[in-house]
Amino acid sequence: MAQASSRVARLIVDGNEIELPMRTGSSGPDVIEVGSLTGHGYFTYDPGFVSTASCDSELTYIDGNAGVLLHRGYPIEQLAEQSNFLEVCYLLLNGELPGGEQRDQFVNDIRRHTMVHEKVKALIQGYRRDAHPMAVLCGVVAALSAFYHYSLDIGNAEHRLKTAHRLIAKMPTLAAMSYKYARGEPFIYPRNDLGYAENFLHMTFATPCEEYQVNPVVARAMDRIFLLHADHEQNASTSTVRLAGSTGANPFSCIAAGIAALWGPSHGGANEAVLNMLAQIGDEKNIDKYVAKAKDKDDPFRLMGFGHRVYKSYDPRAKVMQQSCHEVLEALGIEDDPTLRMAQRLEKIALEDNYFVEKRLYPNVDFYSGIVLKAIGIPVEMFTVIFAIGRTPGWIAHWHEMIGGETRLGRPRQLYRGPARRDYVPVGQR
Ligand code: SDX
Repeated sequence: MAQASSRVARLIVDGNEIELPMRTGSSGPDVIEVGSLTGHGYFTYDPGFVSTASCDSELTYIDGNAGVLLHRGYPIEQLAEQSNFLEVCYLLLNGELPGGEQRDQFVNDIRRHTMVHEKVKALIQGYRRDAHPMAVLCGVVAALSAFYHYSLDIGNAEHRLKTAHRLIAKMPTLAAMSYKYARGEPFIYPRNDLGYAENFLHMTFATPCEEYQVNPVVARAMDRIFLLHADHEQNASTSTVRLAGSTGANPFSCIAAGIAALWGPSHGGANEAVLNMLAQIGDEKNIDKYVAKAKDKDDPFRLMGFGHRVYKSYDPRAKVMQQSCHEVLEALGIEDDPTLRMAQRLEKIALEDNYFVEKRLYPNVDFYSGIVLKAIGIPVEMFTVIFAIGRTPGWIAHWHEMIGGETRLGRPRQLYRGPARRDYVPVGQR
């Protein structure tokens, strides 16, 4: 809980002085509590919530100017290097890194929930074969609430914990099922002898016809991609989960709402959009033309994978992702990947171009993740699904934090600019 500060902010409006209390967190900007403004006849106005703190949280801290990302205080660079995805899931949910026994218990808790009800197959088979896997994931995750009526009491801590385990455990299974269905291949069941990322890759690429050995380098890269996407403060999809959760809706529907928000190309859909953009550019000789388009106010084209609402310096995740990219391409013997070469040239040009420098548009996490995913054989339409698997612990940890804390129904107000009151006009007089 943020500490009330002895400092106050004073607002002078129409000659009146309004005193507003302030709060101080452990890091980052102090906040001004504006809730009392309604009583003075005013609302604040902040479309896109650029300067609005919607809640207080202990999960993740971002310093956009310094390129800092901490999960419960641990720098993302250290977690990416020394930890793994399930350990970060535990950290986000519990606030501390697990000891050996706690880690083993958590891994086992997750393993016990990787299967989905057999009826989920029929749900997925109800989609057209060419359905986007995000459409499948969004729909099926919401439908999971229909399979767990007996443990949806959000006031019950045990139900909340089990739901967290179920969502983290089942997301890769559902993702792999959406991929298999699209390809007309049989679903592959999860295996409890495999690690989390290994299991996902096995369910995605194995067939019943022969043994499938997961490449350990690819599994490590996949685990790191999940880890780098685990949480990111109050981003659009996490804020969607919190807003849905503030109504008391069940956690499966809240996470499904987060999946829907993540799908957009300005958010989690950017990794897919980066690869589509590079395909559209087609060749390094066209890069200058597209950079000019990105700078043209009248042209809707933007360089996908560049820019960020918070990071006004390099996204620390992009640096780690770039390193992973080189490791994977080298391990797979595809150092001279034309897509990577074009991405690196685009990045170099963008980082030297005044337009991008002045607007502080740097590569974000999505810029390189798509290239790594392409290199390990994940089809473009699955990229945002991978992002959703990674972001699930963040979504559910924020939901947990909100439900376990001071939850008020989220209900923003507006600046009304419509017509003033007027009387109905019968159709014969219009
Ligand atoms: C993610 O919030 C999170 O934490 C998100 C995320 C997470 O982990 O959850 O980090 C994941 O979503 C990363 C972002 C992925 N999206 C993209 O890569 C899409 C391309 N980026 C842009 O759409 C944009 O940068 C946003 C949406 C990400 C951020 O936009 P903002 O903060 O709303 O800033 P803006 O759109 O107002 O842009 C500021 C200026 C504008 O020019 P002016 O109006 O000031 O003249 O920069 C320009 C924009 O035109 N600009 C770009 C650009 N991004 C912004 N110009 C060209 N190419 C771009 N990519």
